[in-house]
Amino acid sequence: MTHPILPHAFVMGHPIAHSRSPMLHGYWLEKLGITGTYEKIDIAPEALGEFFASFRETGWIGGNVTVPHKTAVIPYLSEIDADAKAIGAVNTIWRDGDRLLGGNTDAIGFIGNLDDRTPGWDIPGGHAVILGAGGAARAAIHGLLGRGQRVTIVNRTRQHAETLAAHFGSGVSVADWADLGSQLPSTDLLVNTTSCGMLAKPPLDVDISGLKQQAVVYDVVYVPLETGLLKMAAANGHRTVDGLGMLMHQATAGFHRWFGVTPTVTSELRTILENDIREKTPGA
Ligand code: ATR
Repeated sequence: MTHPILPHAFVMGHPIAHSRSPMLHGYWLEKLGITGTYEKIDIAPEALGEFFASFRETGWIGGNVTVPHKTAVIPYLSEIDADAKAIGAVNTIWRDGDRLLGGNTDAIGFIGNLDDRTPGWDIPGGHAVILGAGGAARAAIHGLLGRGQRVTIVNRTRQHAETLAAHFGSGVSVADWADLGSQLPSTDLLVNTTSCGMLAKPPLDVDISGLKQQAVVYDVVYVPLETGLLKMAAANGHRTVDGLGMLMHQATAGFHRWFGVTPTVTSELRTILENDIREKTPGA
């Protein structure tokens, strides 16, 4: 496949059929009148080397990287940015002359979504409690430390939380999953980064009745749009933030790298994505 004329970008992952990135980048390309494309490509782990070996001939200007390739792509890149180094993963690739560079915009997306939905959330020295210790937790913690927040990681497997806390150093502590309740009265921001609550996954089994009344509750999951955690939080009077905003906000920097314009996250775009999620996942 050759792409000699138009700027072509991609999102690559495995599986990739579910990705909503083509829908959101397609919306911006059309809105901004940019002639280019953004398409999803399914790359199995064993095909990663071949993909990068033929990158130049295919004419890609860059793209997004998703599960399971976010760390595996790093050896194929000439350089990665400071955010990608801190998070240990790449979600955006672009060309710089002959070089292929990588970055990570997940922390920017995580924080941009909070700024957008709950302005004033970042009280100086605020206390964020992160549920989970995987890749999404890494991005969230990196973003929160950058905004002067104190972080406690609470994870089912304590050792994973300890490893993550050691990676980030001061400003990050660990508490046992069973002790979540003792953290909640001093929590300003509670974030779910586990896979619990996602469609076809077990629900998140936590009691948030002791959570500080002013606390914001954030779930990085966006299918369903309103997870059990967010329903419970809203019923208790908390401000809530869902993962769809993070998806939209992490995408703007990549679009700028490839197409030269920073697009805007609009309520119209959100509605388009919401409708698609509801249509394809009844009950979401
Ligand atoms: P991602 O990279 O997308 O964040 P991940 O690395 O698979 O995903 O991380 C999943 C997180 O969800 C982990 O923190 C995991 O906890 P463990 O470290 O104990 O595995 C957490 N998780 C998954 N299922 C869970 C469950 N049923 N209860 C609590 N936490 C769960």
